[in-house]
Amino acid sequence: MSFYVTTPIYYVNAAPHLGHAYTTIAADVMARHHRQRGEEVFFLTGTDEHGEPVADAAHALGIEPQELADRNAERFRALAPQLDASNDFFIRTTDPPHEAIVQEVLSRVRDAGYVYKGTYEGWYCPRCADFKADNEVDDGNRCPIHHIELTREQEDNYFFKLSAFQEPLEALYAEHEDFVSPRTRYNESLSFIRSGLRDVPLTRHKLTWGVQVPWDDEHVFYVWFDALLNYYTALSYARDGEDLTERLWPPTYHVIAKDILRFHTVYWPALLMAAGIELPEHVFVHGYLLMEGEKMSKSLGNVLDPFEVIDRFGADALRFYLLRDVPFGQDGSVSTAAFELRYETELANELGNLANRTISMLLRYRDGVVARAPMDPVLAADFAGLPEKVAAHIDRAELTPALEEIWQRVRRLNRYVEERAPFRLAKDEGAAEELDGVLANLAEGLRAVTVLLWPYLPSSAERLLEALGAPDTSLAGAALGSGRIERVGAIGSLFPKDAATPQPS
Ligand code: MSP
Repeated sequence: MSFYVTTPIYYVNAAPHLGHAYTTIAADVMARHHRQRGEEVFFLTGTDEHGEPVADAAHALGIEPQELADRNAERFRALAPQLDASNDFFIRTTDPPHEAIVQEVLSRVRDAGYVYKGTYEGWYCPRCADFKADNEVDDGNRCPIHHIELTREQEDNYFFKLSAFQEPLEALYAEHEDFVSPRTRYNESLSFIRSGLRDVPLTRHKLTWGVQVPWDDEHVFYVWFDALLNYYTALSYARDGEDLTERLWPPTYHVIAKDILRFHTVYWPALLMAAGIELPEHVFVHGYLLMEGEKMSKSLGNVLDPFEVIDRFGADALRFYLLRDVPFGQDGSVSTAAFELRYETELANELGNLANRTISMLLRYRDGVVARAPMDPVLAADFAGLPEKVAAHIDRAELTPALEEIWQRVRRLNRYVEERAPFRLAKDEGAAEELDGVLANLAEGLRAVTVLLWPYLPSSAERLLEALGAPDTSLAGAALGSGRIERVGAIGSLFPKDAATPQPS
């Protein structure tokens, strides 16, 4: 069983921001969860380096596009480990093997009869690198995303016969209702297809910053076709001397935001059909992180710096906040105040406190030794089927509901402490056995939820499992009662209240 998950490849026209971090974190949670299940996982992210967005930004700085690409690709590459993202490869579309395979695949599409020469006339947004129909531009001929005034372009291009895929795409949507989710995005794409597909430019004549068209050296490929193919090309050169395509293709999930819906759910499957390549299984489309009601973006200048957030609170806190506070799949506002509230009330007061009181009571009352005791039947009932429920949600990329299932059990365990009052039992010598049982249940419950939390909070979960003497993170061990904790060790504060001040380690 293999699981191949991707993020969009990000434009290198500026530095990474929280919006990019969001997608990468979400894809990482999925990748880690599937690794817990023992599947062969491949997680791909990287940078999109060609096209106008990058060429224009470089020229504005007075440097060559390659120089800007080199500079910013490194910042995106560095973002992944800072987020604790476990990507298996980082692709750059200026990698020579990527360029060679793009040329090869698109020549095949031409040989199959899906490419012809024509003239494009219409609106074009250089920031989106997207051609727009008359009904897709705002008043004053403005880009609805970037709000800049658009110019009407006329250009001789080679076209991709997208219109030839109208029926095959409708059939794809009819047969695979889970090809695009959430459902609103599926409906949006399907109605775009049904409204009638027009052919799209495959190459650019006016641009030189791109992958050379092998059959006409006055053209480069339109950046979107070069970019989309990253998902395919990466597998053939990510590992030296090994081609992973056969083992891993097709992708299980492309994770994207709604800004690039049409490229991934219409152009991309059509291109793959034209090239005779198997289609991806799912495209999951999340919403926008909003600040003051506007989509965060480099060009709007309302950016929250993920590096700053991580420096202060750590990657786990950022991962948790984004997937907990913004229902994955919908738009949601982000703010420092909301972040701090979640951090304090949930990470510190609920999970941090549960871990802290469980371990400190075991140390204080039992020198850290955990007795052998049966699982409390009431608690066991509340945990029954939990790993399966979480897995079923994550299979559908429902990352917020999956986290909510787990979190209800964190709260359940805190209630168990209140109900069974081990601190009171400790004062009664006759209740020693009961105390042993309560503490063993707590330790085991904490272990089980921590295994499930690992994809979301990898470093805190590893620290905690280490302290419980049960470092195994596989999902098989996420059922309550499936583990056996012998002894716990001391652990510092997992989520210090005053995270702004550096903590002594
Ligand atoms: N290079 C193209 C993608 C090519 S994929 C074959 C591109 N790059 S981008 O740098 O603009 O990244 C867009 C993606 O970044 C979004 O689809 C989303 O994954 C992420 N996000 C950027 N801003 C975001 C928000 N404000 N909110 C949520 N996601 C955000 O488009």
